[in-house]
Amino acid sequence: MVLYARKSTGRCAMTEVFDFRKPSAERQVVAHELARPVFFVGFMGAGKTSVARKLARNAGVAAVDMDTFIERRCDMKVKQIFAEVGEEGFRKIETDVLRELATAANPQLVSCGGGVVLADENRRILKEHGFVVYLQVTADEAASRISNVSTRPLFGDLEQARRVIQGRLPLYEEVADITIDTAGRGTGAVAREAFSCLKREGILT
Ligand code: S3P
Repeated sequence: MVLYARKSTGRCAMTEVFDFRKPSAERQVVAHELARPVFFVGFMGAGKTSVARKLARNAGVAAVDMDTFIERRCDMKVKQIFAEVGEEGFRKIETDVLRELATAANPQLVSCGGGVVLADENRRILKEHGFVVYLQVTADEAASRISNVSTRPLFGDLEQARRVIQGRLPLYEEVADITIDTAGRGTGAVAREAFSCLKREGILT
């Protein structure tokens, strides 16, 4: 497991012992606060939504998934939005929603769609307003994690996914404050590492 840090080096030490089992009557969740919105970026299947949700439940903070937010707002699935207004139309909606979540009064954990880093304006918003956690995944592992790739209009086949990941790599790296390699690791382990990093960076207090 490798962790690259742009503003600090070294893998995050588990500075606080944190119990990520299901909250129970005996175990009270300690509510934390976020100094800024935290954006989870990475390719489809990296686990952005599951990790953000798990972290939110265990740290007592709010989480929102951008694609779900867009689907509710448009009353359409992402796939339908692509069919109706194309990728360009989807990207415009994505930028509006990103700006809204980035400047909201109450910062949240935000799991972003994999293509959020494509637009210059989105990368500017991410860097200016947020703390960005990049979850790395290979195309093969992503494919094995996504139960139905037909819900992801841009996944294509494995070869295409490999090419897209490779092409986006510099963009993910450009915005990342921290990078977590998710290879062979479950949601809990990745969420625990993200928790330690966010504590260490003073984002989660
Ligand atoms: C996309 C990723 C999807 C979704 C849309 C486009 C992409 O989100 O926003 O299908 O360009 O990588 P997930 O990364 O949550 O699957």
